[in-house]
Amino acid sequence: MTILILIPGRDCRDLAAALKKNDPTLDIRIWPNDGEQADIDYIISWNHPAGELHNYPNLKVVASFGAGVDHIFNDPALPENITITRLVDDCLARQMSDYVLGAILNHRLRLTEYREYQGAGVWSPKESRTGNHVCLLGLGNIGQEVTHSLTAQNFKVSGWSQNPKNIKGVTSFQGDDELAKAISDADYIVCLLPLTPQTENILDKTFFARAKKGAYLINVGRGGHLNEDDLLDAIYNEQISGACLDVFRTEPLPDAHPFWRHPKIYITPHSASLTNIEQAALQLIENHRKMQNNQPLSNQVDRTQGY
Ligand code: GLV
Repeated sequence: MTILILIPGRDCRDLAAALKKNDPTLDIRIWPNDGEQADIDYIISWNHPAGELHNYPNLKVVASFGAGVDHIFNDPALPENITITRLVDDCLARQMSDYVLGAILNHRLRLTEYREYQGAGVWSPKESRTGNHVCLLGLGNIGQEVTHSLTAQNFKVSGWSQNPKNIKGVTSFQGDDELAKAISDADYIVCLLPLTPQTENILDKTFFARAKKGAYLINVGRGGHLNEDDLLDAIYNEQISGACLDVFRTEPLPDAHPFWRHPKIYITPHSASLTNIEQAALQLIENHRKMQNNQPLSNQVDRTQGY
C-alpha cells in the first residue's frame, strides 16, 4: 500500500509533502529511492522511463501528474492490467482559458509588434485586427472552459472533436470528415487536443491549406501535433499569419531551433497551464482512497482512445 512518485528530473519533495498533508499515514516514496518494490501499488508518473513500471509486481494504478497521458502511452512496455488516470481540475482549465484569451488579444491588438517597434524607437499606430472567429480543436473539459471564456468575450466560437458535443453558443463539428469545414472560416485556430496516433501531425500542410488565409495558430496541445517545417512554410507563404506555441516536439526547445528567433512565432515554455500541487494532491489522494476501497476511480483514461 505504497505510493511512488516517479517523475525523473523533478524535485518531488513538495508533492510528497502535499500528499502527506492530506493523509499523514501514507507511505510515500520518491523514485529512484523506491525501497521494496513489491510494496508499491500506486504510481504518480510524468515521463517515467520506458519499461520501468514492470519493476513493480503489485502495481494497480498509474496516475498522470498532469492532464495529458501521452507520456504514459509512449512507454511501449506499458503493463496491460493497470488503471491509468489523469488530472482534471478547474485550475488547469482556468489557466488555459486565460492563456488562450491572452494569445488571441496579443495578436489582435498587435502588442508584440508594438514591443518590437518600442525596441527600435518607432511610433507607428495601426488598426487592430478584426477577426473574431475562434475554432477550438478539442472540446474536453479544458476546451469547454476555453469556449465559455471566449463566448463571454463575444468571440464567435466553433469547435471540433472526435465525438459529438453540445455546448451552448458553440458550433460543433466532429470526426475527420468535418475538420476542413470546422477550420475553413476561423481567424484563430487553437489546438487543445490530446496527442494520440490519430491526432499526431494533424497541423500539417494539408491542414494549413484548408485554413482561412491569414489564420493565426495557437498550439497548447502537444508538440507532436505540429509539423514544424509545414508551419514555417505556411507562415512564409502568408497562408498562416503567425503562431503562438507553448509546446514543442523537443522540450526544452533546442537553442538552434528557428522558432526562437522567428518574428511571427511567439513561444512560451510549456507554461500555459501548470499543475497546481495542492489541487493535484487532493485528486491523487482521493483516487488512492478509492483504489484501496475497490471503488471506481475518477478521471480514468480510456486505453483504446488514448485519453
Ligand atoms: C500539461 O501539458 C499537462 O498535460 O498537464
